[in-house]
Amino acid sequence: MTLKLPRRFNALCGLMLTLFACVAHGTEPVKVVLAFEPDPTNGRYLFEICARCHLPEAWGDTEGNYPQLAGQHINVLMQQLLDIRSGRRDNPTMWPFVQERTIGGYQNLVDVVAYIATLPMAPHHSRGPWAEGSPAYEDGKRLYEANCSACHGATGEGNNAAYYPRLQGQHFSYMKRQAIRVREGLRTVDPAMATLLKALSDEDLERVLNYISYLPVPAKDQAPSPDWRNPDFH
Ligand code: HEC
Ligand code: HEC
Repeated sequence: MTLKLPRRFNALCGLMLTLFACVAHGTEPVKVVLAFEPDPTNGRYLFEICARCHLPEAWGDTEGNYPQLAGQHINVLMQQLLDIRSGRRDNPTMWPFVQERTIGGYQNLVDVVAYIATLPMAPHHSRGPWAEGSPAYEDGKRLYEANCSACHGATGEGNNAAYYPRLQGQHFSYMKRQAIRVREGLRTVDPAMATLLKALSDEDLERVLNYISYLPVPAKDQAPSPDWRNPDFH
């Protein structure tokens, strides 16, 4: 019997923390649904492994080595974990920590994602060089609206059901590194997005990411101050 996790889970089934598998059965595929009840308390303990790199607040860093995980959609977090675990997304630094022998099975992945979902986002994140109103910012806005907003949303809010990442609040330097990886074929993503990124000149890519980095994060999603520390860890 072969179990295969499809790239896009069935949005109709609604439940975000649900895994699906297709099992070959004669000629007709049979869908097996594996549902898990998330336990953020267990997720808090598991997150200790993650916090060694991602820090207890999961805010990422301004140099772009680590992404902001706080505020990211749970389906996106789950898909990235599965992709990193399987090697589909190359991340040799994190790979050993998301193997079954280290973090455990699907239930634990569901729990750690549920815990991350409880964390507020950073009040500040790293931004590109061109502030609102400048010509390069305006170019980026135009490019974003023409090429990216259909999936990532008018304000970069992403889409949980469709597995489109929230880009609002993500560090400029991290997004730049990821976009370059996609262009160089080192990160496999939605083919439509890869084509769009490859078609942009270096300058336009920088401008569109600059614009994204200025998309405002709703105040309700942010921690009250940059000094906020995760009380579960401090
Ligand atoms: C040894 C360090 C390390 C550990 C431990 C670690 N990570 Fe990561 N993680 C990284 C790095 C580095 C990246 C960025 C990789 C890249 O640039 O492509 C990353 C990326 C991610 C991403 C992708 C986010 C995005 O928006 O692209 C997710 C989700 C994630 N980590 C979750 C976790 C979770 C959950 C744990 C704990 C089970 C964990 N990580 C443990 C280093 C680590
Ligand atoms: C067809 C839908 C679609 C379009 C259009 C699209 N994206 Fe994406 N984008 C995605 C998906 C899906 C992912 C998650 C990729 C994966 O599978 O790892 C993603 C991921 C990203 C990431 C990495 C986020 C992270 O947390 O790691 C960046 C940065 C990004 N997109 C920027 C852009 C930009 C800039 C544009 C416009 C030029 C764009 N995208 C257009 C669907 C799209």
